Formats: sequence, structure tokens, C-alpha cells
Amino acid sequence: MSSELVTLAQRYVLESRIAGGGMASVWRARDEVLARTVAIKILHPHLSEDDQFLERFRREALAAARLTHPNIVSIYDTGTEKDAALSSDQHFIVMEYCDSGTLAGLQKDGPMEPERVIAIAGDICGALGYAHRSGIIHRDIKPANVLITQDGVLKVADFGIAKAAFGSGDITTTGSILGTVTYLSPEQVRGDEPDARSDLYSLGILIYELLAGRPPFVEDSHIAIALKHVNGEPPSLGSLSARIPRGLDVAVMRALAKEPGERYESAEEMSSALGSTAPGSSTTLLARPRGSVAPTRASESGPPLKRRAAALSQTRNLIPVAIVVALAIALGIFLPILFDSPNEGEANRGGGGNGNPGVGRAGALSVEAAHDLDPPPGDGEEHAEDVSSAFDGDADTYWETESYAGDLGKPGVGLVFDLGDGAEVDRVRVVTTAPGLDFEVRAGDEDTADADGFQSVDAAESAAEETDFDIEPIEARYWLVWVTGLPEGGKALLNEVQFFGS
Ligand SMILES: Nc1ncnc2c1ncn2[C@@H]1O[C@H](COP(=O)(O)OP(=O)(O)O)[C@@H](O)[C@H]1O
Ligand SMILES: [Mg+2]
Repeated sequence: MSSELVTLAQRYVLESRIAGGGMASVWRARDEVLARTVAIKILHPHLSEDDQFLERFRREALAAARLTHPNIVSIYDTGTEKDAALSSDQHFIVMEYCDSGTLAGLQKDGPMEPERVIAIAGDICGALGYAHRSGIIHRDIKPANVLITQDGVLKVADFGIAKAAFGSGDITTTGSILGTVTYLSPEQVRGDEPDARSDLYSLGILIYELLAGRPPFVEDSHIAIALKHVNGEPPSLGSLSARIPRGLDVAVMRALAKEPGERYESAEEMSSALGSTAPGSSTTLLARPRGSVAPTRASESGPPLKRRAAALSQTRNLIPVAIVVALAIALGIFLPILFDSPNEGEANRGGGGNGNPGVGRAGALSVEAAHDLDPPPGDGEEHAEDVSSAFDGDADTYWETESYAGDLGKPGVGLVFDLGDGAEVDRVRVVTTAPGLDFEVRAGDEDTADADGFQSVDAAESAAEETDFDIEPIEARYWLVWVTGLPEGGKALLNEVQFFGS
């Protein structure tokens, strides 16, 4: 821009240049007519010369200008100014000025508390839900496009205007126009038409980055990151930070599904799923309202033991494995991560004692101690050295039984958890990466080597990866997870056992 050009459309006086993105430079300006500060986005001259780009840019900016929402930056005006010093025209958009930076700036302070991230995600979901209902896809959700006002209100900027950037055809050019491919959905990378669920994927990446302090895919080039969106596995949030509740991890991973049909159907659904993982929320990990399944009453002691595993154990197919594999084959890429998770677990096994069993399990009661239980005819010992891995807040590490050929050959084998005096439990969660085992949860006031000294509370048959038992509150210090049947492979794994209550 030439130095003489300080007033646009005879009313906007440019004051200072805020930043320059891949598509435009952004200025703080004074609107002389309405006597207010505004932000003006001036398209880069080389893009102004591309008629097709310009046409898409104008059309999208116009559509976005119709959006009125508290969490969306308002568009006030658009215009074209002849720049005497340049042959091309200056195309610009005038918008609401947000003077307290962007989420990209906040991110520099490191990982954010889950509660805060959930609130931020709720605001962005509000903006997206409204825009999607109005027929507008953002296409470029990223931290630099979430602005912050002086009052701390979040406002999503640049609705729709990224559409112009995708016309360039190749991902490297698109990436440099947009500034980054870090947040692009797999379908955008492939050149498919994005829809509302593409925005939810990008928001998933943004949330992931806020929580973990780094995006899921960190590579040296746009192309390498783009490929990861198509067929890379995001590291679980729990493996990066023990502070992140597993339910939140699961909820974010759903937004990051490669296949749009596996993601949330709407921003509203995503918002409530994330909200339900907040500590203190009354809904469970899988957003099933509490009490939707009749609880088993421990006070109604003795048999028959209600077996309601089918209702309680739900598996989320978080990773559309078939799609990833098909794509990997199509692209000639081998994905070891799909096949080597047991080894990864092996590497971590037994290292789970982080010294603080309560870490990383928002809302979970802390386990004071635990031990294995393998009464006769068992040999009295069952991988005692790995017991801490079952309650270390890290779902990648696990305690396992020995390998049995065929049957267990005894009534059961398991772990006893000591929750300390006065613990009252109303939910038990059992996570295993070897689904298909049968187990019971039992409670007792004494730590005894006799499994029948514990009261049966609930049971799961052929358990899924995650089993959540919502139970009537039971006050008991000792809790036994009693494996009565093995999954395929002949050994049971308990990656994480958590108790919730007070
Ligand atoms: N309405 C606005 N008010 C204040 N600052 C803004 C506004 N819009 C954009 N900015 C600032 O200008 C920067 C560049 O914006 P932009 O050209 O959209 O590129 P990008 O979104 O890739 O960062 C943003 O990161 C933000 O810091
Ligand atoms: Mg922007």
C-alpha cells in the first residue's frame, strides 16, 4: 500500500496496521461518519488481480455480512479504492474492531484449563450453529480467527471468506493464502466440498490445541500436515496431559473423526457433548442422562445380580479405521499406529505410578492403594507390579492378568481398590483396550482375600472399551473389580478404573 492512501471511501482513516495474513492486511481505522473505531481488511494486491478469486471473495463477504450474532464479528461495509500508486484496486471489508487479540495470542500462555476450553468451545459452537443454520460454512476456523473484545467476549471472524482461497486448487497455495493447514478437515485437504461438519473438525483441532498446548499434527510442511489430516492418528489428549478428563478426550476425538458422518451432526450437539464432560456436569461421559438406566441397588443385596452391560457399555468407534486404512492403502502409506498400540502400552506398562493417583481424573475419587487378588485355586499373585497402571489417570498404561489358554479355570481374578474412609461412590468406570471380558464390580468394608467377602454391585458381560456403571450411592472403602471371563486373546487388561462420588 502506498503511503498516500490513508483514507478509504472518504470516511475510513487508517490509523495503524494490525497484522498481515496470507490473504489480506488488517488495519485499525477510524470511521469518520459514525465516529467509531473499526477494523479494515484490505485484500493483498496480487489477489485483487485474480478476477475469479475476487468474485468468490465478494460473494462470501456479502453472505457473511448478513450474520448477526454476539459471537460473530459484525461486517459493516465493503468497498473498493483506487490506489494511485498501484495498478490494481484495493478491495476491503470494514468490520467490528476487537481490540484484545485473538485465541492464538492466548495460546502462547500454554495449555488451558479444561473448564475454560469448554466455555470457549461453547461460544464458538454458538457462532457456528447460528451460521450453519443460516447456510454459511466458515471453512477457516483457527485460533487467529477467534477475536477477543475489550470485555473478553469471543467473536469469530472471517466467515466464509476463506472460500476464495480454495479455488486455487492445490493445498500448498491454499495453505499459504489461509496462513496454515493445521486446522483443515480431511475433506478440505482432498478438495471435497466442505460442510458444517468440516467446521466442527477444525474446531476440534483448535480445542485440542488449547487443551494440549500443541495441535495434534505437527510436521515440517503444509503437505505433511495435510496428509496427517487425511490418515494420521491424533495422539490421545490423555497421553499428553494428565489434567484432561478422559470424557473430554473422547468428546474432542469425535470431532476429529476422519469421516464427517462420524463427527457431531451439529455445533449444538458438539457443544452439549463437550459441556457434559465438565467436572460437576450431571451427565456422563457418553452424554447419557443419569438414571436413564435403572440403577442396581446395592441395598437390595444378593442375587439376582442385574446384568445390564449391554445398556451400559457403549463403544464409540472414534476412528473410522476402515476409511483410514483404505486411504492409507490408496496413498501407499503404512500406519503403524493402527497396529502397534499393545506395544506402546507395553513400553509404558508399570510406569504408571505418577505418585498421585488423583491426577488427571477430574471429579474422580482418589485411590489410596490397590492390590491384585488371585485367591485359590489361583496362585495368589497376578502382575502385582503393574497394579498402579490401572489407576494412574493414563489410559495408555494397564494392569493385565496372565495369559490363560481357554478358560480362566477359577471363579475370578481382579484388583481391590482402597478409596479410604468414608468414600461414597455413585459411578464406576472401567476402561480396557481389550474389550470382551466379563467382570463384576463388588464393594466391601474390609479388605479380604476372599472375593465373596465383597458385595456384588454390578457386572458387565463382554464389556466394551468403556463401561460406566451408574449406581445408587454406596458407602464402601474397598472396591473389587473381579474379572470372571476373559476376552479373545486369553488375558484381561484394565487400563483405568475410576470411581466417582464424594
Ligand atoms: N476485526 C478485527 N479486529 C481486530 N483485529 C483483527 C480483526 N480482524 C483481524 N484482526 C487481526 O489481524 C490478524 C490478521 O487477520 P487475517 O488477515 O484474517 O489473517 P489470519 O486470520 O490468518 O491471522 C488477526 O490474526 C488478528 O490479530
Ligand atoms: Mg482471519
